[in-house]
Amino acid sequence: DLGVITIPVYVHVVYSNSNENISNAQIASQIAVLNDDFRATNNDANQTPSEFAGLVADTEIQFNLVNTFRYSNSRTSWGTNDAVKSAYPPITPETHLNIWVCNIGGGILGYAQFPGGPSATDGVVVGPNYFGSTGYLSAPFDKGRTTTHEVGHYFNLRHIWGDGRCNRDDFVSDTPSSDAPNYGCPSYPTVNCRSNDMTMNYMDYTNDACMYMFSEGQKERMRTIFLAGGARDSMIN
Ligand code: ARG
Ligand code: ZN
Ligand code: CA
Repeated sequence: DLGVITIPVYVHVVYSNSNENISNAQIASQIAVLNDDFRATNNDANQTPSEFAGLVADTEIQFNLVNTFRYSNSRTSWGTNDAVKSAYPPITPETHLNIWVCNIGGGILGYAQFPGGPSATDGVVVGPNYFGSTGYLSAPFDKGRTTTHEVGHYFNLRHIWGDGRCNRDDFVSDTPSSDAPNYGCPSYPTVNCRSNDMTMNYMDYTNDACMYMFSEGQKERMRTIFLAGGARDSMIN
């Protein structure tokens, strides 16, 4: 067993105005949210309905901010085609999680690369106004859960609806089958595919305040990539 895994993090802030040049406090708030969410020390985990309460996982993955880099650039939106990573390449992505904080545009909150992709584009990208839980933020995505969701993808998690209809799988057995993303703040129970959706899972599309758990099955799927031969085993020293 690998025990508690600590992921070293580099944050690249790419800004075209002073709002986008988010404060160190805002960056620290995001690292704190990641640590709370991945260790199940988030103070809203107790809202989990009893049906799913036994599945709330401490993933035993934690995050350590190593360095922050700041780049001024006149470009005001960066899209989802990795342009920001070409301009500012990741630093030792084999061992470090690289996070670019920049305006993506098009209403996109964030995007991530799954394990096993090219190292030159490895990491996650999040808009400055969706990053962290204090500072320059846009409700209802102002509690740092976009980064939690994107890091979930970076650790091999799929959306809980499997990006398809009831017959598509997220390859996690304890997340109930679902038809499509849920948005806003769904009431419990929300029934699809003849079971209650786990709408409070970080890998759904609900508001930040309405997502507060990873499942034990997701923990298992994430941690598998760090085992010898796994797609991110180079992150384990
Ligand atoms: N749309 C993005 C993705 O699929 C992020 C969604 C984040 N949701 C949130 N409530 N913060 O990767
Ligand atoms: Zn997603
Ligand atoms: Ca499932």
